[in-house]
Amino acid sequence: MKKFIKYVLILAGVVVSAVAAFALYIYSSDFPSYSVQIPKVHIEYTPTRVERGKKLASMLCVECHQNPENKQITGRIMFDLPPEFGTAYTKNITQHPTKGIGAWSDDEIVYLLRTGIHPKTGRALPPYMIKLPMMADEDLFSIISWLRSTDPMVQPLDVDNKVSSPSFLTKFLMRVVIKPFEYPTKPIILPDSTNKVALGKYLVSNLGCNDCHAADVTKVNALEIEKTAGFMGGGSNWTDVNRKVLYASNITFDKETGIGSWSEADFHKALREGIRPDGKPLSYPMERKVQLTDNEISSIYEYLKTVPHLHNPHKASEEYTLPADATAGMKVYYKYGCQRCHGENGLGIGDLRQANTKYPDDTTLTDVIKHPNKYFPTTVMIQWDGIIKEEEFAPLCSHVRELGRRAAHTIAR
Ligand code: HEC
Ligand code: HEC
Ligand code: HEC
Repeated sequence: MKKFIKYVLILAGVVVSAVAAFALYIYSSDFPSYSVQIPKVHIEYTPTRVERGKKLASMLCVECHQNPENKQITGRIMFDLPPEFGTAYTKNITQHPTKGIGAWSDDEIVYLLRTGIHPKTGRALPPYMIKLPMMADEDLFSIISWLRSTDPMVQPLDVDNKVSSPSFLTKFLMRVVIKPFEYPTKPIILPDSTNKVALGKYLVSNLGCNDCHAADVTKVNALEIEKTAGFMGGGSNWTDVNRKVLYASNITFDKETGIGSWSEADFHKALREGIRPDGKPLSYPMERKVQLTDNEISSIYEYLKTVPHLHNPHKASEEYTLPADATAGMKVYYKYGCQRCHGENGLGIGDLRQANTKYPDDTTLTDVIKHPNKYFPTTVMIQWDGIIKEEEFAPLCSHVRELGRRAAHTIAR
């Protein structure tokens, strides 16, 4: 018996040390690297492609890579990364030859976006950088045409990349769970735009709806989206720019817990304007998509109708508590969720530091808040006209100015 206990103890010791050694290895190692083989592509930068690429990039790349201060895609801190993943910065992807990707070949950019492997180093990209293994060649080539274009947002800007510090969990996922995608062996063709269900599926797969509206973001099947656990049933957790948790909604057509009772007009309003049928704004990181055409939105709607209905009630998001002496303006700011994008301190994906000086009178500032599309055509900010009550604008403006003044001397993160 004594001998048996001794064996068990030795075995347990071996297991514990092996686990500890593995943990130490993951902790001290970088993301895994893979061998790189880059196929040749030939992309003609036609004006049609640049236009299409701009539209796609404004939904898929700009949100993460745009710096709120200089408005170019020079990278920013990911305010909205759940803290368990560590701290991360997106990169300078302007045409700058050394700080940006101006000296990369088209083949290299395509390779990175298809596989998630860095073409220069072979290092795998973290889960919070987008990969496009299923995007049609035409769309991918359009994004690259835009990156090469004369659009002010992509012009070379000398801004250094900042170093990210991924957490143990991120490193563990990178070693054990997340694998790069295979480079496609055949061209990927655009779906027929008159086949609504096919176009809807393509958009759901390529606009990130599938990643976010899954049950668990680490278990998404990007290649065969319908095999994703809890497909479109929501439940995965996300964070706003203050890292407050909120959960993806169930967007299957379940009547009780999904969007089964939404009309097509309700769906258009939610996607285009960011307003639900009950009049409430959608919260960041769910961003409205002004860029989508009517046909694209109704195609997504038609496709979602074909997805199996899941019964999965929406989980309540983490609440904000205001100080007892909150001003009237601060209350309005939180009531409509401005803090989810602009931060509690005015520094988020939209930066309020300049609003005070740029719009010196309240009439203009109110107009910016009511109709941000007039000033920023593809902005994700909601058009608040008719949603915020008239008498709420004066206190709201004064809070926006107060945040701008307080943050004026803060250095951009
Ligand atoms: C959810 C946020 C997010 C989105 C969306 C996103 N990126 Fe990124 N991107 C990142 C992060 C974070 C990194 C840095 C990864 C790292 O640390 O290695 C990155 C890195 C890159 C790099 C590598 C740059 C270098 O110098 O190593 C390129 C190129 C790139 N992104 C292009 C794009 C394009 C094009 C799009 C749109 C199709 C896009 N990204 C969308 C977050 C994002
Ligand atoms: C970055 C993650 C993310 C992406 C990408 C995303 N969503 Fe969402 N979505 C969410 C979250 C989180 C919510 C819940 C927001 C809230 O609580 O206000 C939501 C809510 C919604 C709602 C409201 C449902 C309801 O019952 O109120 C609809 C509709 C919706 N999303 C559709 C889509 C579609 C269609 C796409 C793709 C074009 C998409 N979403 C892409 C995260 C995302
Ligand atoms: C879904 C995210 C989101 C929400 C919610 C949001 N905004 Fe914005 N806002 C932005 C972004 C992003 C910009 C920067 C414009 C751009 O490039 O898209 C912006 C720009 C602004 C500007 C102009 C800043 C400048 O320098 O020109 C003001 C003022 C502003 N927002 C106020 C508000 C107020 C007040 C609320 C709440 C009622 C609000 N925003 C809600 C995302 C948001």
